Amino acid sequence: MLIRGRVLWFLRRPESRDDLAACSYDEDGAVLMRDGLIVQAGAYDRVSQVAGENAAVIDHRPHLILPGFIDAHVHMPQMQVIASYGTELLDWLNTYTFPEESKFRDAQHGRRIARLFLDESIRHGTTTVAAYCSVHKSSAEAFFEEASARNMVVIAGKVMMDRNAPDAVLDTAQTAYDDSKALIETWHNRGRQRYAITPRFALTSTPEQLEAAGALAREYSDCHVQTHLSENHAEIAETMALYPGLQDYTAIYEHYGLTGPKSLFGHCIHLSEREADALSDSGSVAVFCPTSNLFLGSGLFAYHRYNRREKPLRVAVASDVGGGTNYSLLRTMDEAYKVIALQGEKLNPLASFWQITRGNAEALSISDHVGTLDAGTDADLVVLDAAATPTMALRKETIGSLADELFLLQTLGDDRAVREVYVAGKATKSPF
Ligand code: GUN
Ligand code: FE
Repeated sequence: MLIRGRVLWFLRRPESRDDLAACSYDEDGAVLMRDGLIVQAGAYDRVSQVAGENAAVIDHRPHLILPGFIDAHVHMPQMQVIASYGTELLDWLNTYTFPEESKFRDAQHGRRIARLFLDESIRHGTTTVAAYCSVHKSSAEAFFEEASARNMVVIAGKVMMDRNAPDAVLDTAQTAYDDSKALIETWHNRGRQRYAITPRFALTSTPEQLEAAGALAREYSDCHVQTHLSENHAEIAETMALYPGLQDYTAIYEHYGLTGPKSLFGHCIHLSEREADALSDSGSVAVFCPTSNLFLGSGLFAYHRYNRREKPLRVAVASDVGGGTNYSLLRTMDEAYKVIALQGEKLNPLASFWQITRGNAEALSISDHVGTLDAGTDADLVVLDAAATPTMALRKETIGSLADELFLLQTLGDDRAVREVYVAGKATKSPF
């Protein structure tokens, strides 16, 4: 299949809004896809020659064609938690989140929400997620089955949690180990699925359970690890009281062998310099969740400081729905821009779009497959319309540069700006 439009992807992180050398951009561009992969992307003249004269063309002009967005931290069982009023993290978990996640005891409910979750992600232009399922093994099975049916690249795992929550959302160190292991054996590297060992956070895991998570991480060193770290002051204080021998929050995860280049730590807002060094030294990833951090009043993530320190942190960006308030990575980057502005800095729009495509793919160690339009990678694409609403259309009339158009998309865009999404080469919106 040959699609035509304004084709953009990133070769490296753009240094400024003028750094077009970091981009591959063709005003009259095209992408040729076959068997779920990109055969070639670039100038229409060149790509259409490869496609041959009789190839059917789907014309997306004047819209932008980019790699599909990647959400590096999101909670599938929180679709009905999003927009819950009035609490900070620990109250929010106890009041809204744990009761909601209890409903996933019912496998039917898990299947329904997994289906709706992936559809809603795709509808917002997100083609890859690193997702938390509930504690129940069946919720992860449902998630992987639905992702598999859509041929999506996903990283996901059953949450491990064995204390400080209602019984209906607790496992044990042993059952968490056994269920995670069985899920890994069935789903990890099956098709495009990957498994993430997922201890929720140190507060809801006993030392025995973190030990079990570490054992899994050693046995399956190819799997990701995902958890939460240093999100909220009360969380940090309660956590340190549970692990009195260890010097700081990060040291807990280090102690149990859970840091490393495939480890994704949600939030990382209140890290000490020692903790940031430890994450950097181990190649771990800090995940910035701007809408969630603002909504729960958790704090401001030091995006530029983490990127620029002597030992830089690997950083990803994520929605964190349902603590986060929108599935859209456009809405997410709008809030990221404001969080960074409150710290007296700016995030250039080219770097924003790099972050939610190639940047997140690199942080998740999946950039050989997604996040770019390089030949041979997976044909996961989003088609964006910068004039999707009357407000956007009017503002677009005044815009000259690609960077300004991206900034308009980020500041005013949401699911309405998503014209089409291709997952493994298949259009998901139009009946092509
Ligand atoms: N910390 C532990 N669990 C959660 C969760 O579900 N959401 C957020 N934002 N933080 C957490
Ligand atoms: Fe989270």
